[in-house]
Amino acid sequence: MDERILRKTLSDIPLGGLRTFEQTGSTNDVALAWAADGAPDLALVCAEEQTSGRGRGDRRWFTPPGTALAFSLVLRPLPGEEQSVPLFSGLGAMAVCEALGMRGLHPEIKWPNDVLLNHRKVCGVLAEAVWMGEKADSIVLGIGVNVKPEAVPPSDQLNFPATSIEAEMGKSVDRLTLLRDVLQALLYWRGLLTKDVFPNAWGNHLAFRGEQVEIWAEGVPARTGQVEGLERDGSLRLRSHTGQIFTVQFGEVHLRPVL
Ligand code: BTN
Repeated sequence: MDERILRKTLSDIPLGGLRTFEQTGSTNDVALAWAADGAPDLALVCAEEQTSGRGRGDRRWFTPPGTALAFSLVLRPLPGEEQSVPLFSGLGAMAVCEALGMRGLHPEIKWPNDVLLNHRKVCGVLAEAVWMGEKADSIVLGIGVNVKPEAVPPSDQLNFPATSIEAEMGKSVDRLTLLRDVLQALLYWRGLLTKDVFPNAWGNHLAFRGEQVEIWAEGVPARTGQVEGLERDGSLRLRSHTGQIFTVQFGEVHLRPVL
């Protein structure tokens, strides 16, 4: 990654700092350490390659060199945002959807925050909060986007079908301008995080709306229901086969369509 070109491309974004790596373990780990060391709001860590990229639920995230976007943003909750911490991962997914929409694609969000193209995962978001007692001191929002087909892991390592932007578009995509567009969209939606328009827009991107899905978590019986929409706090609203409405909060929960 040419840092000079990256800085120029991102010159309109009011970053709190920028650290770039040709190779690192995990940009989230770098950003968490930086946050502990006083990183300001909107400090950004980007890597060309991650050797131990992390996904949700302790899964690995594959980032071969030069094929993806792998970055982590430190967010210091602003006044009023403290109550909205659970919404930050949806914020990352919404920002990526917006940037993909600008490229003529029709992304959907597999709740809570996987971005899909044609029902295949193209982006994952890992939001990690650092708590000081009851208060989130910082949130590290890690985003991984499969830009080139080489970024997609072999199928035996996938727990959900995956794709890349270039495979879906049939042409090459500039990663730096994509990053700029994601960050710009993130700043826009962050300003609306505490307003109803945010969960409404997130809900409008929901994949499997009206379809039967299974919600499962480690050690807990799976539940099935029809996807109805999102609650104000970002929880998923479903309808059981008996017609009862129930909601599912974030946490280590996963969703898969019932075939
Ligand atoms: C998931 O879908 O399980 C979340 C994947 C998040 C991957 C990104 S890549 C940049 C950042 N660094 C990491 O180690 N993980 C996140």
